[in-house]
Amino acid sequence: MDQSSLMQAHYRTLSDFWASVLERTEFAAIAVAAGHQQFYLHDDQGPAFRPNPLLVQWLAKQQCSENSWFIFSDAAKPLLLFHQPEDFWHAATPAPDHLDEYLDVRVFADQDELNSTLEHHLAGAQSSKRQIAQISEFDAAVTTQCVLNPTKVIHALHFQRGCKTEYELALMRQAAELGARGHRAAQQAFADGASEFEIHLAFLRASGMNEWQLPYGNIIAQNEHASLLHYQYQDRDSATHLNSLLIDAGANVNGYASDITRTHVGPSCYSATAKALFSDLLERMQTLQDGLIAKVTPGANYVDLQAAMHRSLASVLTDTGILTCSAQEAFESELTVPFCPHGLGHLLGIQVHDVGGQQLDIEGQMSPPPENYASLRLTRPLAANMVITVEPGVYFIPMLLERKRATNAPINWALVDLLTPFGGIRVEDNVRLLPTGAGIENMTRDAFAKL
Ligand code: GLY
Ligand code: MN
Repeated sequence: MDQSSLMQAHYRTLSDFWASVLERTEFAAIAVAAGHQQFYLHDDQGPAFRPNPLLVQWLAKQQCSENSWFIFSDAAKPLLLFHQPEDFWHAATPAPDHLDEYLDVRVFADQDELNSTLEHHLAGAQSSKRQIAQISEFDAAVTTQCVLNPTKVIHALHFQRGCKTEYELALMRQAAELGARGHRAAQQAFADGASEFEIHLAFLRASGMNEWQLPYGNIIAQNEHASLLHYQYQDRDSATHLNSLLIDAGANVNGYASDITRTHVGPSCYSATAKALFSDLLERMQTLQDGLIAKVTPGANYVDLQAAMHRSLASVLTDTGILTCSAQEAFESELTVPFCPHGLGHLLGIQVHDVGGQQLDIEGQMSPPPENYASLRLTRPLAANMVITVEPGVYFIPMLLERKRATNAPINWALVDLLTPFGGIRVEDNVRLLPTGAGIENMTRDAFAKL
């Protein structure tokens, strides 16, 4: 399908769903505020503006200007009140005139004028005496008929975002491709002995992202830093020995993310024995990931896959001699948990940890993760056209393992000590469940294969 047919189908799906939400919840309209630029304390500077994600689904992220409003009702077209101030400090956000076919776009330079049009329009929409669902973070209710952030509407919209349209999938494929380019450059830079910071720059250059476009801060972790799950700094200098690199970095296309992690063996490891052990562990983790991806199918329960990861991890850790008990014992006593304290994956989309992953239905019935896997963000049954991450890991996290040292746990501490300077391993792919129920599309590996 070409881009315009994809878009047409996307808008049809969105419109039909939002209309069904109005019908079910009996609101007259849904009014979505794009949001406002925030500033740091006592400052006129702030982080880059991130629009209301519910609006990103209707407009590309770069077309969501702050202070704009979007109103969905049973009118022929949704209304976009687009704020485009006259400003000689900043470039104007271009108005999405090309979406005229789908949206009634009205552009306002003046904020007051926009606000009074909004009030006027919402007053008209409520003439039917029904209320208006207003979804905004900072604004007070625009009119007395507006209900701020009604959960029954938000739950429904979040649930729907779990399954992507073909248009969204096309964007996510592009994000995977940009991410893969960044990863390939990062891998090369690391092989050449680059520091974390230089690898970060190599990633940005090759992916074409600047810092504020990244879907999340790059995690570029050499050596022990790889044991910090969301390591946030970038050392300017290279360590004497480069043992390992864990790079978790993605790209963003029109507001849709990729989220990719790779682990590489370093070019100047501190010990040949340790390097061989770590390389073997890395290979086993890649095989382990393949096994888990093969279990991704509509109807599967991700909590079961999380348990399957720990089961396989128990085998990897016992087969390599890191754990000295049986795999069964390691799994049952949850000895693998300190080696991998995070969830196997999450929904991916406009948000990196996309919304609705623990939600069982549009009504908002929640399914919290089990206590032993408290970090798992995806507990909802898998369904066609979800894009999920599959990101098993194994880490040598001193803080967690030290607690085990005192307990006589069946751990080969000599091996743990040998591997600790490598930090850990994570391999992460973005996987889409095919609508036919037959298998998956691995967006990440497809993207690497295209390079
Ligand atoms: N990419 C970071 C995470 O999934 O937590
Ligand atoms: Mn992830």
